[in-house]
Amino acid sequence: MSVAPPALDWLVDRCGPLAGEIGLPGDKSVSHRAIMLAALTDGCSRVDGFLDSADTRATAAAFVAMGVRVEAPAGGVRIVHGVGIDGLAMPHGVLDCGNSGTGMRLLAGLLAGQRFDSTLTGDASLQLRPMRRIITPLEAMGARIEAAPEGRPPLTIHGDTRLSGIDYALPVASAQVKSALLLAALRASGETLVREPRPTRDYTERMLAAFGWPIHFEPGRARLSGGHRLRATDIAVPADFSSAAFFIVAASIVPGSRLLLREVGLNPRRTGLLDVLRMMGADIRVHAPRLLGGEPVADLEVRHAPLRGIDVPGSLVPDMIDEFPILFIAAAAAEGVTRVRGAAELRVKESDRIAVMARGLERLGIAIRELPDGADIRGGKLRGGEVDSAGDHRIAMSFAVAGAIAQAPLRIGDCGNVATSFPGFPQVASTTGMRLAVLSHGGG
Ligand code: S3P
Repeated sequence: MSVAPPALDWLVDRCGPLAGEIGLPGDKSVSHRAIMLAALTDGCSRVDGFLDSADTRATAAAFVAMGVRVEAPAGGVRIVHGVGIDGLAMPHGVLDCGNSGTGMRLLAGLLAGQRFDSTLTGDASLQLRPMRRIITPLEAMGARIEAAPEGRPPLTIHGDTRLSGIDYALPVASAQVKSALLLAALRASGETLVREPRPTRDYTERMLAAFGWPIHFEPGRARLSGGHRLRATDIAVPADFSSAAFFIVAASIVPGSRLLLREVGLNPRRTGLLDVLRMMGADIRVHAPRLLGGEPVADLEVRHAPLRGIDVPGSLVPDMIDEFPILFIAAAAAEGVTRVRGAAELRVKESDRIAVMARGLERLGIAIRELPDGADIRGGKLRGGEVDSAGDHRIAMSFAVAGAIAQAPLRIGDCGNVATSFPGFPQVASTTGMRLAVLSHGGG
C-alpha cells in the first residue's frame, strides 16, 4: 500500500480582489498517457510541460520498474527511452499507482496482454474505487485479472498474449475505461471498437495517432487493430484546464478581481465548466487561441461577475466531470439555486464528491440537497469554520476558493493529496492575492 500523503491542513482567510497573470501545471491526463505511450515506442521521446506530481510520478515509476529509462532533466521535462510495443520487462514487486485511477485503469489495460504477471495497488482512496468496469470488458478480450472483493484493487493481472479485439459499448461515459480497452487492443488480435454513451476526453486516441498507430476516432467512437508499432515523438503538454478551473471560479466570485491564466488547455471534452459558468453570468474572455502540440490552448481573462444559479445541462456532465467540486463553490456563491443531475460518477472519484461537498457546504451554512446523482445548491453567505477535504485534492482546492469569500477564516483538513495534481497550488494562490497558509501537523 502507498505511503500516506503529508498531514497538512490549510487555513484560508477572506481576501481582496485577485489580480495578475499566472501559469498553471501541465495536464494530468496527457502527462500519464505521454509516459505510457512513449515507453512503448521504438525510440526516444521528449515530453515538455509534463505535470510533475505524485500521480504522474507513480506512473513513470511503474514503467521504470518494467525496464524503461525515464530521465528528468527538469521538473516539467521527461525523456522517455521507449522499449518497443513488446519490450516491457516483468516488474520486481507490486506497481503502486498511488492515488491515481487513471494510472491504474490504463496500466491494467496495457498489462493484460503482456507476457508476464503483475500486481497493481494504490493508496487508501484508490483501494476503494471500482475496477469491475475495466475487468469485465478486459476479461471479454481474454484477460485474466484477480481483484479484491467487489472488484476493488489490488489487481493481479495474469498477462496473456492471446487477447482478442472487442466491440464494446461502455455502460458509463469513462475515458479511463475506453483508454484501458484501447491500450489492451494494441496487443490483441483483430479489431477493437469502443462506443461511448457520451463522448469523453480523447487524449489516448489523439496520442496514439501522434505516435503513428493507425486509429479511427470521432466523438463517441474509437476503432483500432493490434499488430502495429509506435514511433517516438515529442509531446507538448498543455496546462491543465482542471487546475485552471479553481482560479477561473476564484476570480469570478471575489469582487473586483481580474486574472489572466496563460496557455490553458481548451480541449472541448474538458471545458464544460466554461459553458456552465458563462450560463451563470461569468465574464471569461478567450485571448490568442492557438494549437500547442495539436491541442487547442488560449489565455483566459477572468473578471469578477455576479453569478446566478442554473440547471446544469446533463449533456455537459462528461465535459466537466472533474470540475463539480469547484462548480459547487460557484453555485454556493451564486444567487438562487443550481441543480446538478446525471452526475452519479462523482460518487466514485477520489472521494464521494457529492457527499463530501454537501457535508462541507452545510458546515459553511449553505443549503444543499443531496441526490443520488447530483445536488440542489442554494447560493448564500459562506461562514468560515472547519471543513474536511476527505483527502481529495480537488475538494481541498475548491474549499480554498470558498475561503477567499468566507466571512471568517476557513480551515480545510487533509490537503496533502493536492500534490497528486497541483503541487504548487498554495504558492500560485498566494501570487493571485489569495491568503492561504499551510499548516503541518501530526508529525507529518
Ligand atoms: C480521466 C478520466 C476521468 C477523470 C479523471 C481523468 C482520464 O475519469 O475524472 O480525472 O485521464 O482519462 P473517468 O474516465 O472515470 O470518468
